[in-house]
Amino acid sequence: MEGRTWLGVFKGAMRRVAKTHTQGGEEPRRGMERIPMARPSWDDDMRAAAIDTLDSLHWVKGPQGKAFGKEFSEYCGAVQGTPCQSGSVALWGALRLLDIGPGDEVLVPSLTYIATATCVSLVGATPVFVDVEPDHWCVDLASLEAARTPRTKAIIAVHLFGQMCDDVLVEWCNEHGIAYIEDAAQAHGAVAASGIKAGGVGDVACFSFFPSKNLAVGGEGGMMMTRRDDLAARMDALVNHGRDARLESHELGSNLRMSEVTASIGRVQLQRLDGWLARRRAIAQRYHEAFTPLPGLNVPAVREGTHHAWHQYCLLADDPQHLRDTLEEAGVDSRIYYATPCHRQQVYANHPQHEQSFPVTDDIAHRLVAIPVFHQMTDDEVDHVIKAVVASIGS
Ligand SMILES: Cc1ncc(COP(=O)(O)O)c(C=O)c1O
Repeated sequence: MEGRTWLGVFKGAMRRVAKTHTQGGEEPRRGMERIPMARPSWDDDMRAAAIDTLDSLHWVKGPQGKAFGKEFSEYCGAVQGTPCQSGSVALWGALRLLDIGPGDEVLVPSLTYIATATCVSLVGATPVFVDVEPDHWCVDLASLEAARTPRTKAIIAVHLFGQMCDDVLVEWCNEHGIAYIEDAAQAHGAVAASGIKAGGVGDVACFSFFPSKNLAVGGEGGMMMTRRDDLAARMDALVNHGRDARLESHELGSNLRMSEVTASIGRVQLQRLDGWLARRRAIAQRYHEAFTPLPGLNVPAVREGTHHAWHQYCLLADDPQHLRDTLEEAGVDSRIYYATPCHRQQVYANHPQHEQSFPVTDDIAHRLVAIPVFHQMTDDEVDHVIKAVVASIGS
């Protein structure tokens, strides 16, 4: 993450929420101030859910977590959802569920958040990095095929920025007996060309509810999800020391449970999700119309037949620094995703692929400029961002 840290942005946004919040259920209104990358969503229903849960004194292992898992997995078309402490923990759990460990290889795109790769290392398996598609920026089938070996046990397909991966990956995994893990941390509510939502496509899917995500829980949070009956019961046990109802431990797990209060906030946010996604899509549509004709910028292509969740709206810029400088002067935050691809991070300094070049990833990683796209943006703010991007061309 470049420039201001996300934590700084988050703290700033929380200060503004505290300063401007008045009575009533509306999220606070703002005038034209600096436009951040995200604003946490918080309203009276969420506050009431949190207080009710605290008042119930049922703070862990209660009805809220169960209901959140059920409601979100139903929304996604999966058979079960198990809330847990973060998206990173969900990824670790997914690999444990699929019995992946030492000697196994897991194919992961290098253009992603670091947790997609480190979860593989944490279970003692080897992440094998692959390239992404030149047009949609998700994991590339030809690159997967080139990296496949008899030790390949799974892929982690990231629905990057909210864009669904190609459905062809499902067939490819089935054909080769390889498990499909969806990293859906950025894709709540995205829909594949098959009509299936993120979370219902792979063997196991992993969500993050970090505050900047499309759906959040008022703290850290994540969810494992599966469409496979045979994995469902183990998934619940895994976040609870692998224990059964008689408190006997059957497999290695830990306390990875989500707290009841965060689950109760997530349930309220879930009721808002479709409305929020509609707003994100409308903003993205305005950006597309305004930016498509501009030279030196490529707008993000949406895979045919899919519904993008627009967690990030990234422009592929010929001159990313100039674009970011212009936005900065106009009071608009931006980010580069991901300036240092995973295989080049120091944590993988001893990985055999540390120096490997991936033509697409190397070409685009430092040129993908994310601009604000979140449901609370006012039309004035959207206009302001558009003017700033347009001004960067030819200036
Ligand atoms: C693609 C991706 N995977 C995994 C994660 C990890 O989620 P968390 O921060 O909740 O651990 C994130 C979070 O930013 C992410 O964007």
